[in-house]
Amino acid sequence: MSKRKASQSPLHEPQEKRQDLDSGLDASSLNRTHTISYPQLGANRQAAPVPFQQPTGLLTFSYTPQRVLEFTDSALRYYVDPPPGADLRYGYDRWIKRPEEITRLDSLLRAVQRVMQKADATIGEGSGVKWMRDIAVVTWRGIMTKILTAPYEERDRCELNVMYVNGTLYIEEHYSDARLKEKEDLAPKQRQQTYYGYSFESWCTSSRPGLPEKSEGHPVGWGGDVDTNVQWCSVVKTKLGDNRLVIGGEVDCVRNQFRGKTDAFVELKTSMSIRNAGDEARFEKKMLKFYIQSFLLGVPEIVVGFRTPQGRLTTTQSFKTVQLPRLVRGKPGAWDPQVCFSWGQHFLSSLKSILSTPPAFAEESPDDSDIQPLPRVWRIVLAPGEGVKVSALDETGLRGSEATEDRVGILPRWFFDEVGGKGVGASIPKEPPVPPAVVSAPASTHQGWNI
Ligand code: A3P
Ligand code: MG
Repeated sequence: MSKRKASQSPLHEPQEKRQDLDSGLDASSLNRTHTISYPQLGANRQAAPVPFQQPTGLLTFSYTPQRVLEFTDSALRYYVDPPPGADLRYGYDRWIKRPEEITRLDSLLRAVQRVMQKADATIGEGSGVKWMRDIAVVTWRGIMTKILTAPYEERDRCELNVMYVNGTLYIEEHYSDARLKEKEDLAPKQRQQTYYGYSFESWCTSSRPGLPEKSEGHPVGWGGDVDTNVQWCSVVKTKLGDNRLVIGGEVDCVRNQFRGKTDAFVELKTSMSIRNAGDEARFEKKMLKFYIQSFLLGVPEIVVGFRTPQGRLTTTQSFKTVQLPRLVRGKPGAWDPQVCFSWGQHFLSSLKSILSTPPAFAEESPDDSDIQPLPRVWRIVLAPGEGVKVSALDETGLRGSEATEDRVGILPRWFFDEVGGKGVGASIPKEPPVPPAVVSAPASTHQGWNI
């Protein structure tokens, strides 16, 4: 008889039986909360540096204003210098704001499916699935940034859902309904400040390389009213220590021309103008996120727009991503990317070892060899200053989500069947050929920015 119970709420919380272990693994560990400790900051590190490979672009895709995913570069924008003193409040009332919602992995998985199809078509049937078996992590760039910078994070707690399927960790961010509502109902001042960042993107981008936009009824250089549904995204592969990662994320714009490589990518950021040493230290601290966020997608250049509290652009400065660590070394807000990389390696290997625990409900159908035990969904909590908590979600949560959404845990069933479940090794249905921009590029040769 099944021990499973029906559940109203998908992916509901595990029963907390907290025992902080570093990872004692046995079947009963499913009911425990494991802890992965952060490294001590400032301590002398003895360990060998963990290398992080320069990412290479796999493909790009766009979201249309209707939030439809298409494998085109329709949402690609070109960098242009913003007008001096640009008003970042411009167009605020016309901002089309994408509603706050859970960002699932589905679009990224469609991109992964395309890469696999391309491998099948060019190298031979089954190459795609084989390629996937070597991938340790599939996730969004924002999530990987939160993971890698967690040892330095002082404020924001982050919750993740993770599944471990055929050697690959699939990681999505978890938001409670209350947290989503909080994000949606921003205080007017915060909402305005969030808009400054998007407005800066509009002032800095154009539909044509090198030519500021001129559209009727708007000041010269205004790139168009902000619609946060529209995004241009890049999917890259890279390697952190032993772990091959496939990461997707939004790219703000490119310099001059996009030829499928990441070396023309530009990240745009806004920050308050620096008036004193305290501001400078705060900015240098923020640079850690700029650095990791950009590095993960192979973005070689970050253009920062400094602004007044009222949203007037004062100056812009371009930074070479790879030079940021050197800029902060020995300063009050200093951080060391090596701390993040070796933490990332430790985190991923600890997670894989905890999540490899055999599922308790595997014993439920011992005679039925066709039914493989479904992988579990795990909840990861990155608690600032405390460490990472890892616990298995109740399996009934998994069932509930599957029944209502045609999903296996956090994964869409079509993907699970092709890559992780019964369909392992099976051929993948053919779709129209993958568009260009699937490139294995050498390290960036981008040069020439003064900092
Ligand atoms: P700034 O980073 O210039 O403040 P991204 O830099 O990741 O491309 O994001 C673009 C803009 O989205 C940000 O611009 C900011 O305005 C907004 N944004 C991104 N993440 C946010 C967050 N966690 N909270 C509030 N605003 C955010
Ligand atoms: Mg940006």
